[in-house]
Amino acid sequence: MKTLLKLTGIKKSFGAVRALKGVSFELVEGEVHALLGENGAGKSTLIKVITGAHRPDGGAIEVGGEEISELTPAKAQELGIACIYQQPALFPDLSVAENIGLRLEKLGIFKRVGWGDWRQKAEELLARIGAEISPVAEVSSLSMPEQQLVEIACALGSGARIVIMDEPTASLTQKEQHLLFKVVRDLRAQGVGVVYISHRLEEIFALADRVTVLRDGESVGTNPVNGLNESQMIRLMVGRDVETIYPQAEHELGEVLLKVESLSCAASGLEGLNFQIRAGEIFGLAGLVGAGRTELARVLFGITPADGGSISLNRKLLEISSPRQAILHGIAYVPEDRRKHGVILEMAAAENMTMASHSRWFKGGILRKGIETEAGREFVEALGIKLSSLAAPGGSLSGGNQQKLSVARWLATQPKLLILDEPTQGVDVGAKGEIHRIVRDLAKQGMAVLMISSDLPEILGMSDRIGVMRGGKLVEIFEHADAEQVMAAALGSEEVKA
Ligand SMILES: Nc1ncnc2c1ncn2[C@@H]1O[C@H](COP(=O)(O)OP(=O)(O)OP(=O)(O)O)[C@@H](O)[C@H]1O
Ligand SMILES: [Mg+2]
Repeated sequence: MKTLLKLTGIKKSFGAVRALKGVSFELVEGEVHALLGENGAGKSTLIKVITGAHRPDGGAIEVGGEEISELTPAKAQELGIACIYQQPALFPDLSVAENIGLRLEKLGIFKRVGWGDWRQKAEELLARIGAEISPVAEVSSLSMPEQQLVEIACALGSGARIVIMDEPTASLTQKEQHLLFKVVRDLRAQGVGVVYISHRLEEIFALADRVTVLRDGESVGTNPVNGLNESQMIRLMVGRDVETIYPQAEHELGEVLLKVESLSCAASGLEGLNFQIRAGEIFGLAGLVGAGRTELARVLFGITPADGGSISLNRKLLEISSPRQAILHGIAYVPEDRRKHGVILEMAAAENMTMASHSRWFKGGILRKGIETEAGREFVEALGIKLSSLAAPGGSLSGGNQQKLSVARWLATQPKLLILDEPTQGVDVGAKGEIHRIVRDLAKQGMAVLMISSDLPEILGMSDRIGVMRGGKLVEIFEHADAEQVMAAALGSEEVKA
C-alpha cells in the first residue's frame, strides 16, 4: 500500500514546553489512522505540523514519498492535505455553493467559473457525501455539523488525499455521527488516508484501522486496532490501568432542592417544564442537539430569564434575572462551549480557576494570592491538568486541559445546584473518570447536579434519574432506562421507526 505521509522524529517546543519530542507517524492509502493520547499529549500540535501551521524544530516530513523541506499551509493544501476543524472556517454570510466555489477557486481548481457552475459542483460534492444540504443555503443558517459536512465537501472537491479530523464528533448527535462515519468510510474506500483524533474509544473501534498513541510528546507505537481491546488501548495511552466503571451512588438522597414548575421561556423555545432534583441527586438531561437542554441551563442561570412558571431552591421561590443573581442563590453553570466562553485565554491558569469564587479567596478586600495558588494546585492535581506553571496563560493549554480548567473553576464555588453542560467533552479517559468521581462526591456532599450530556454511556452511568428533552419540552423522566429507551424518547417515535 502506498505511503501518503511519513513523519520522522518531529520535534516542536513552545518556550520551555516540549510538545513533541521526536514523533514518528506514517499514513497509508485507504486507511483510517487514529491518533490517540491524553490531553496535552501533543495530538493537535502534530496536526498543525502536518497542515503547515507550525514549523517543526526538527525531523523530516515526506508527502507521497517526497521530502518536503518547508511545509506552509498553502503548500500543504497544494499537496492534498485538508483538515476538518471542530469550528469550521466558512464565510457565514455566503451560500454553501459560494463557500465551496471560493475555496476551490483559491486552489486554482476553478478558474473564472460562473455561479451556475459553482452551484452544480457544490451539489455534486454534497451528494457524494450524502449530505442533505441545499447549495443555495446561507452558511449561517446551517448547524455546526452541517458546516463540518460543507468543509468535508470542500476537502473532497479539492482532491485531498490526506484528510485530518481533530475531534470531529464532539458536538454531533448520534444521527449526524452516523453520517460522518459513513463519509469517513467512503473516503477510505476512495483511497484517501484519514487521520482521526477522538477521545471516544468506541469511535476508534468502529472506524480506525490502525492507531498511533502519543504519550507526553512521544509516539509510543502504532498498532492495528483489530488486535487491541479497550483496556489495552487505555493502557498504551496512559501507561497504567484506568478504572472505567462509573462511580455509583452509595448515599441516600436528601430533600427536594430544586423544584421547577411549568417553566417557560418563549425566547428560547422552552415550554411547560416540570421537574425536581433532590439534594445528592444527579439528574441527567438527554436529548438531541437543539432539543433545548442548553437553553434550559441558560434559563436556570439567568442568561435568558424565564417568562413563565417558577423555580424554587430549598423551598424558596427564586427570581433569577441575571447570572449574578443565580450565583448569589448558589447556582453554578459550566457552559458547553468552553473553548469560546469558558476560559479566558490571556489570563493565568490559576486565576481562571478561582475567578468565579473570588469571595472565598478575598479577605478584607485583598486577594490572598497564596491561597489562590494553593487552591489552584489542588485542582491541577485532582484533575491532572497539564500546564507548565499556574501562571501560564489559559490559551497555551491543550483543548482538553482548558476544559478541565473551566470545570475546576465552578467546582471551586461550592454551589447548591451545579449545572454541567457536556462536562467531559474532549477530556481524556483518565480525567473523565476523575471528573465523574468528583461530581459524584459533590452530590454526596448534598449538592443537586443537573448534568447535560450527549455521551449516552455517561448519562446512563452517572444519572440517578434521566430527563429527556425534545423540541423544548421535557418529554420523559426515567427512574431507570436503557440506551434504547432514552434514544427513542429523544428522537420521538416516528423517527425511530424510519
Ligand atoms: N501555542 C502554544 N503555546 C504554548 N504551549 C502550547 C501551545 N500549543 C500547545 N502547547 C502545549 O503543548 C502541549 C501539547 O498540546 P496539544 O494541544 O498538542 O495537546 P493535545 O494532545 O491536542 O491535547 P487535547 O486532547 O487536550 O486536545 C501541551 O502541553 C500544551 O500546553
Ligand atoms: Mg487537541
